[in-house]
This record gives sequence, structure tokens and C-alpha cells, in this order.
Amino acid sequence: MSDRIELKRAKKLKGRIVPPPDKSISHRAIMLAAIAKGKSIVKNFLTAEDPLSTMNAFRKLGVEITEARSQKSEVRSKNLKLIIKGKGFYGLKEPFDVIDCGNSGTTVRLLSGILAGNPFFSVLTGDNSLKQRPMARVINPLKEMGAEISARDSDKYLPIAIKGRKLKAIDYTMPVASAQVKSCLMLAGLYADGTTTITEPQKSRDHTERMLKSMGADIDTDGLKVRVKGLGGPSGKELNPLDITVPGDFSSAAFFIIAALLVESSDVMIKNVGINPTRTGLLDVLRSMGGEIRLLNVRDVSGEPVADIHCKGASVLRAVNITQENIPALIDEFPILCIAAAKANGITTIRGAEELRVKESDRIKAMAEGLRKMGAEVEEFKDGLSIKGNARLKGAVIESYGDHRIAMAFSIAALVASGTTKINGISAVNISFPGFYKMLGRISG
Ligand code: S3P
Repeated sequence: MSDRIELKRAKKLKGRIVPPPDKSISHRAIMLAAIAKGKSIVKNFLTAEDPLSTMNAFRKLGVEITEARSQKSEVRSKNLKLIIKGKGFYGLKEPFDVIDCGNSGTTVRLLSGILAGNPFFSVLTGDNSLKQRPMARVINPLKEMGAEISARDSDKYLPIAIKGRKLKAIDYTMPVASAQVKSCLMLAGLYADGTTTITEPQKSRDHTERMLKSMGADIDTDGLKVRVKGLGGPSGKELNPLDITVPGDFSSAAFFIIAALLVESSDVMIKNVGINPTRTGLLDVLRSMGGEIRLLNVRDVSGEPVADIHCKGASVLRAVNITQENIPALIDEFPILCIAAAKANGITTIRGAEELRVKESDRIKAMAEGLRKMGAEVEEFKDGLSIKGNARLKGAVIESYGDHRIAMAFSIAALVASGTTKINGISAVNISFPGFYKMLGRISG
């Protein structure tokens, strides 16, 4: 794929799409299956760069993972089925070399929790983006648990070196809501003596909790608190293997939800989308903006709520005011929400979103810059931005900064802009959504 694309205004979007499998759940499926005892089956695994980083990491740790195209799947598409031979809590082997986590924060942060409790030496690194992302948020609490762990620049950044050992349970209050930090500590908690308690400032995605519970872990959630009992110690207890089907990724579907709302005369059915309430804050926000979105065929798939989402264009959206409490449940939807805000009536303000500065790129800066280039009026704050709506967007040259969600958000903006929009760095979409442009081409005719 060339690393640049040129896109023009779309007249309408019509059709049925199936978004790619959920990235967060795909990562977790490999990790948890690897430390369970016995053979796990994971259907509809996401074959995109991020979860493949997790798969490669666990192969380096000695886990046998085999791939098979499933014949008959839930979503009737050619999706990948994995068979993972779980090694049990202490069956991973010392890697021969440094583990490269690529662009994936989820890989490095969750894996650190597992490695901290495994009795061998390992080193984790990543690409240039991941090397600049904060790791002290997992290193500090892991040290409190007794982990032997150090990293570049006074334990702040990758590479991280870990010498695994017996851990002790802690009671930890997280300064920022983060499912990656919470999950890291839950996984480390499985290797600790006693019960680890983690308290979040706001609720972040709870896929790890759901999966671990289904595997027989001793976990208890109470509002913003999660308690995890150590299993991988003298108790000799192990996790049961998984047999799951990964639902479609709401965060990938989000680009098409907003595209359908913004492009007049659109009518799009998005099939098989995970609607876990810790992920779907965008739906509430879009509805309060006046968006017409219907959830159909709501069902349970492997312990996660799933639905088909029907969206129609030509709704006139109203501006909204987003504050810190709204952020965790729409954290990954910020870039595409900014595009909806630019077309809504009134001024949208998003605050309390400092976390967006330390994602795959500085997403506040990247969105403010790109929207201004396309003609929108944007004010940037340390913790968010405000966007004047009803913008007459015009084609421009946009930088993705190697960030998949920035590339996809501006690709949708291009559909409601005059002229031609050129986006540089589109190979980044392969991080989470390899078929994005093909799907967009198909529904825009
Ligand atoms: C993720 C958690 C979120 C999210 C990321 C995936 C996960 O990150 O932004 O894309 O799978 O746990 P934080 O935990 O840093 O908020």
C-alpha cells in the first residue's frame, strides 16, 4: 500500500459492513490463554499489527499458537481462528532476545504485569512512538509489588528490563483511568501472595475482568474497585482455558458511525459490534448531539454485549460539552468525535483529556493541526480543545503522525470536505484496521 491517499467528498454511504475484530479483546485472549493451563480456542482474532505484536511476543516466550481460517464463523467472514496451548502460570520460558512490542501500548503494559511474576529475565522495547510513551505508570506500582524492573531515563521509558520474582499484593489507587495499567496490575496480582486491590478514578474498559472471571480467577469488582486474588503461588490453582469469539471492534465501527451521520442520504448497517458500556461513551454523546443511531439484535457473545448498529445520514448534529468523566469510555474515539464536532451546530468543548497527548501520537495537537488546515476554527488547551462547528471543511494535506486513528479520522473528514484531501502516513491504519480503505471504497461506491 502506498503511504498516501487522496480522498474526495462522498455523495452517500450505503451498505452493510462488518468491522474488524476487537483489538483490546484480541490482545487479552492471547495473553490469558498463554498463562492458562490447556488448549484455548480464539475465533475471529484480529490480524492487525498490534495484536500480532502480542502474538509474536508470546511465541518468543515459548507458547505454541497455531492459526486456522475458520470455515463457519459467527460473522460469516474469512476470519482467523487461533489455537493456543496454554502453559500455565509458570510455563513461559525466558526469551532468547529482546521482545519488540511494535506500536502497541497494550502489549507492553499488560505483558509487563505477567513478566514481573515469572522467574526469568526479559527486555521489552517498541517502535519510536512507543519508546516515547510513559511507562512509569506500570513500573512504579509493579515495583511496589516487589518487582525487579528498570527502564530508560530513570525508569520512565522503553526499553524495560524485568527480572521476574515472587510478588506481593498491594492496595493501589491509580492516578489516571487506564485499562492498560489496571490490567497490568490485575495480571501481576495473579502472581502475588494475597489479594491485590486496584481503584480507578473512573471506570475504564473491563474486558480483562470479564475474561479472567470466565476463566475461574478469583476476581471481584465493586464500582471503581477491582480485587484480584493471587493464584499462581503455592495454591497451585491455574486458569481454565478460553473458548471465545471476539466481537467486532466498536472503536473501528466508530469511524463508520460518524461517517454515516455526516454524509447526507447515508444508510449504513454495521454488523456484529461489541457494545460493552465501558467502550460506548461515543454513542451517548452522539445521541445527545441528535444523531440517529439504532442498536439491533442485541445479544451476548462470549461474555460481551454485541449488536448491529444502524445509522442514517442527514441528522443535524448539535455541539456538546465533554468533561473528564466522559473521557475513559470514549478515549479512542476522540479523533473521530472531533470531526463530528467540526460539522455540528455550535462550539464543542472537550476538556480533561490530557491522556490524549500520550497516545500513539499527541492526538490533541494532531487533530487541532489537521482541522485548522481543513479550515475549522480550533482552540487548543493543555487538556483538550474547542471546535467551532458548521465548518466548511476544504481539502488539505494532512499528517497522520504514524497514528492509525488520526489517519482514519481525517479520511472521514475528507468525505465531507470540498476538493481533495491528501493524507500522509496511511499505512498506520494496519495497526488496528487493515481493510479500512477497501471498506470505505465499497460503501461510498
Ligand atoms: C486499551 C486501553 C486504552 C486505549 C487503548 C487500548 C486496552 O489505553 O486507549 O487503545 O486495550 O486496554 P489506556 O489504558 O492507556 O487508557
